[in-house]
Amino acid sequence: MTLIPVPRTAVIVVAAGSGTRLDAGAPKAFVGIDSFSVLRHALDGVFAASPAQVVVVAPPGFEGDAETELRGAAGDRVDLGRVVTGGETRQQSVAAGLAALWGDVEVVLVHDAARALTPPDQIDAVAAAVTEGTGVIPALPVVDTLKRVDGDRVIAPVDRSELAAAQTPQGFPRAALEAAYAAALASGVDYTDDAALFAAAGGTVRHIPGSARAFKITTPDDLDRARRVLAVPDPAIGGHAVVAAPSASATTPAAGIPRIGIGTDVHAFGGEGDLWLAGLEWSGEPALSGHSDGDAVAHAIVDALLGAAGLGDIGEHFGTAHPEYAGAHAAVFLARTRELLDEAGFTIGNVSAQFQGNRPRFSARRGEAERALSQALGGAPVSITATTTDRLGFAGRGEGIAVTAVAVVFSRGGADRAE
Ligand code: CTP
Ligand code: MG
Repeated sequence: MTLIPVPRTAVIVVAAGSGTRLDAGAPKAFVGIDSFSVLRHALDGVFAASPAQVVVVAPPGFEGDAETELRGAAGDRVDLGRVVTGGETRQQSVAAGLAALWGDVEVVLVHDAARALTPPDQIDAVAAAVTEGTGVIPALPVVDTLKRVDGDRVIAPVDRSELAAAQTPQGFPRAALEAAYAAALASGVDYTDDAALFAAAGGTVRHIPGSARAFKITTPDDLDRARRVLAVPDPAIGGHAVVAAPSASATTPAAGIPRIGIGTDVHAFGGEGDLWLAGLEWSGEPALSGHSDGDAVAHAIVDALLGAAGLGDIGEHFGTAHPEYAGAHAAVFLARTRELLDEAGFTIGNVSAQFQGNRPRFSARRGEAERALSQALGGAPVSITATTTDRLGFAGRGEGIAVTAVAVVFSRGGADRAE
């Protein structure tokens, strides 16, 4: 018999919600994304992270199903996992998980099963950042323009730089979290997340960068998004989900009719300052010239997306008639493009861009660039390929670069119909 050392970290995976807003005919954790359920995907992520005790909190009556998902995901770490029954609120479900922790556990992560595609790296990063007196949450900057409203009246703008969108897992020192749960129980207040409960008991909470992939599946649109994300395999999870097939329990509307778009952009070297390309700053590389930062990768992607949706082109929405975009970087262009598509009833499937030029060398920063662009597009997969041109043409002579991008978008609710 092999003895596994008892881990100092535990992950409580709360999966006991009913999924009212998803409305898929089964508790949300057991709805299929592809041929695997929300819970199975969440547990695949948890077991791909560093070894930890794993407590799955299941809806009453679904303990056996949760056990099956746990066994499927755990492999030879099955002894680290167990299933307990959840409560009526998320807070009660977490409390049930806390009651099942092993004595040696010192750091507790609480994770929503509904954030099914959370990268294992994010789970490890939260665990590593917890210190004796401090809780840690992953969070993303807010990109939308926010308003305070009263009924249908817009009252005031809200400064988004003060806000962050909280994700899970949220990590805490065990003893302090248990004390905070006891205090919440005594006060009778129901908190929607553990950071709020922990802070109410006087605890300090810090945030680290979250990831677009850790979005929460709440509505049918979110489930469609998860299916599209899975269309691109994630090597970190050793993926069984290569193609986003409609699920066997496909109770949600289809993603919509796909439309494709193409965009090209060319910029000459000769701008001032450092190079900005594919959403990244490349210090020491010669800059490109242009009305904005000359980021030809971002600009080709914008044209591909606008073209796919039939919404005109980059000149119309961001050209010299829009001085507010002078000098703007990719994140601004892409977030606004996503907003334009969203308003017109389109969601983004995926984007592929090809860079032609001698410099910079993309391979070392490909993943970083893909993540930056994908994040600006709300999590849609972006892939970048790069090539030189055998010294031919302006790219080959090092005078500038060319980028071609293609994008697939999906129409919602008939937005694809020609007028
Ligand atoms: N959760 C839980 N026990 C509850 C309520 C929620 O374990 N009584 C879990 C959910 O399973 C989910 C996470 O908490 O993984 C976040 O909750 P949410 O997204 O709100 O899920 P649901 O409550 O299932 O969805 P809805 O609010 O639409 O009913
Ligand atoms: Mg809920």
